[in-house]
Amino acid sequence: MIPAYIPNPVAAVTGGGTPVDCGRRWRDGIRIFGDGKTFRGLFGGVTAGILAGFLLLLLEGHLGISIHTPLSVVLLAAGALLGDLVKSFVKRRLRKERGEQWLIADQYDLVAGALVLCVLVDPAWVAARITPLVLLWILLITPLLHRGANIIGYLAGVKDVPW
Ligand code: CTP
Ligand code: MG
Repeated sequence: MIPAYIPNPVAAVTGGGTPVDCGRRWRDGIRIFGDGKTFRGLFGGVTAGILAGFLLLLLEGHLGISIHTPLSVVLLAAGALLGDLVKSFVKRRLRKERGEQWLIADQYDLVAGALVLCVLVDPAWVAARITPLVLLWILLITPLLHRGANIIGYLAGVKDVPW
């Protein structure tokens, strides 16, 4: 899941500038995604996730194991921030402010986005690699990693809130 875990924290560092919705509003009069989703965050985050994934592929080559493929790396990295974007879209429709806490959704958006994109584009990889035990591990460690990374981001000053 490393290619899916890297994009969010990197987006918090590279983010800023033009928001993905370009300031536009949905028909309910509220922003489509809000100022927390920017092009710089999206591209910086996905690029970093893909780079991390390719390092992982090199490491796997050295160790003689094969878990990832170039395709799975790209799908996990892009899916993570697409999930985050969909989460923010729903969050705005529920009248939740940018940065407001939304338990479960804030933690699992990247997992859902990454795995859904993999299932849609490369179901054979999911069937081979995401066993029930792997999925259980993902569900257990994701909230811990999410919380830990956000506390570090908050202390480092790149996040306004520690969640
Ligand atoms: N970020 C970004 N572009 C993205 C994702 C994140 O620029 N596609 C940056 C923003 O600066 C954002 C920060 O990373 O504030 C933290 O991301 P996140 O917690 O997902 O955003 P929130 O500000 O909490 O917004 P939302 O309520 O929409 O989740
Ligand atoms: Mg948030």
